[in-house]
Amino acid sequence: MMEGDNDFNSNEVVVVGSCMIDFVGYAPRLPDPGETIHGTEFVTNFGGKGANQCVAAAKLGVSTTLIARVGNDSWGDKYISNLMKNEVDTSYVFKTEGESTGIAQICVAESGENQIVIIAGANKRLSVEDVEEASETIKSSKLLILQLETSVDVAVKAMRLCKGVSILNGAPYTANYDPSLFELPTIFCVNEHEASQFTKLPVTNKMEAEIAASRLISLGCKGVLITLGAEGAVFAEKQTGNVFYVESPAVECVDSTGAGDAFIGALAYLLVRRNELPMEEMVEKACMVAADSVTRKGTQPSFPDEQILEKLDTIKHS
Ligand code: RIB
Repeated sequence: MMEGDNDFNSNEVVVVGSCMIDFVGYAPRLPDPGETIHGTEFVTNFGGKGANQCVAAAKLGVSTTLIARVGNDSWGDKYISNLMKNEVDTSYVFKTEGESTGIAQICVAESGENQIVIIAGANKRLSVEDVEEASETIKSSKLLILQLETSVDVAVKAMRLCKGVSILNGAPYTANYDPSLFELPTIFCVNEHEASQFTKLPVTNKMEAEIAASRLISLGCKGVLITLGAEGAVFAEKQTGNVFYVESPAVECVDSTGAGDAFIGALAYLLVRRNELPMEEMVEKACMVAADSVTRKGTQPSFPDEQILEKLDTIKHS
């Protein structure tokens, strides 16, 4: 909640999604299946794609509301305090009896690549009724963000209520998806792995990503963004037939966890506050925010604050 703002229904960005406590082990490399290796450091962080994307947008200065569930446990209390510190409106972060706060077990290699296993816990209990309770807040927002760490039904319900722009991050991939996941959002955003899973096409480079993006358009998407890690991102739009590729700035990657969340949070900020910009410029700026985040460890602590906005202004398209 922004200081001095008493209207819970007027926040610019609403995120419906997950909260996880990240248990992160840093190691020289990712272990092979069945292998045990020595790590170098262990930390706990506040994570979950929903909360990460919300905090990424909030750190850039937009007003945000998170609709989510945590357990009625000490992690849940700590999570809500963390969101409040980041000025996120927590009116619809519900505590859940009988479920623990979601957990993510993460291994990060020295190369910066990661492996993640999530145990959804309270996130599984985020319901269509919870979304209905927040319906006025969703309807009055400028932009809605969703992911798939909570149920598909929840995402579909929220998108049906949304009157503004919506971004669905199709992560993690689920085989039980509804075709409306492609049709409802303004932008369907996935990384190369998820793009390949949803399209059943190989996505290992820019050219394959462009083909997968066009395939997603033919499956009903209005707009598609495929993020390619250090390689940048591909965007495709149904209405204009536009497909373009944007490069990411070269940086030294320390920890790639949450880079996609930083990208989506930044894109949300740009779509709300800088919507006069051409899409190509917005995608380039969002890539810059994601690249900046991978130079620091963790997810939410690695996301840049408003100080990066000046640097983003060095990118200009005619
Ligand atoms: O996108 C990164 C996030 O994925 C981590 O914070 C982890 O919690 C998982 O949800």
